[in-house]
Amino acid sequence: MSAQTSTKRLTARDLLNRKGGVPISMLTAYDFGMARLVDPHVDCILVGDSLGMVHHGFTSTVPVTLDMMILHGSAVVRGTSHALVVVDMPFGSYEESPQVAFRNATRVMQATGAGAVKLEGGRRMAETIRFLAERGIPVMGHVGMTPQAIHALGSFRAVGRSDAERAVIMADAQAVAEAGAFAVVIEAIEEPLAAEITRAIPIPTIGIGGSAQCDGQVLVLDDMLGISTRVPRFVKKFADLASVVGDAVQSYTQEVQSRRFPAPEHTYPRKE
Ligand code: KIV
Repeated sequence: MSAQTSTKRLTARDLLNRKGGVPISMLTAYDFGMARLVDPHVDCILVGDSLGMVHHGFTSTVPVTLDMMILHGSAVVRGTSHALVVVDMPFGSYEESPQVAFRNATRVMQATGAGAVKLEGGRRMAETIRFLAERGIPVMGHVGMTPQAIHALGSFRAVGRSDAERAVIMADAQAVAEAGAFAVVIEAIEEPLAAEITRAIPIPTIGIGGSAQCDGQVLVLDDMLGISTRVPRFVKKFADLASVVGDAVQSYTQEVQSRRFPAPEHTYPRKE
């Protein structure tokens, strides 16, 4: 068990300092209860906009709003004391201009108490990342497959399949690092490119479906716990919570229907 004992919350700078060191363990969480369980065991919790698909049943992250991110983000911060909490900036909340991004990222930081924000995009977002970072907002980048662009991409498939595409992804990662991001998620690219990017840039790379050579890894919590119904092929299931929940609820219903529940020890204590 890798539970942390320190009570000091990790910061974006702590994660930056982990470049090339002990790999960074990061998972998503979207609510108070799960965040509390995950917090002692990871370095970073991402309140990902994947919550739109995982917890709200949308088919993409596009419908997720800033208010949704703030609601979930503040619950996660309340449930944690150790991990750095990073909140995703949702689609439409940061692309227009660095100023709009700053205003919305400020709202996220103030309303949730999170330690950083994440936004998708490489070279096209570099100016915005610099604007935020220079004004005290730690930014995690996200390059490779960027799910908010699903309507332009057409699918959530792996990217970087040609030399030209690989060069673009490398340039995106370098631009994000040069702009002042403290770390960058690289999603759905093949191992050699992930390893090359990790060697080339001075900030930690956090892989998702990438490579063990990254400086850290992130997964969607519900996917690795076996709760999600559809998971990407690269996800390793570390538990089968869907079966655990199903079995528990089935036993409960059987006991209720056979009038065995509540058993005497689970009723209100009788007053003597
Ligand atoms: O929204 C999310 O959960 C993410 C991770 C998959 C990296 O961006």
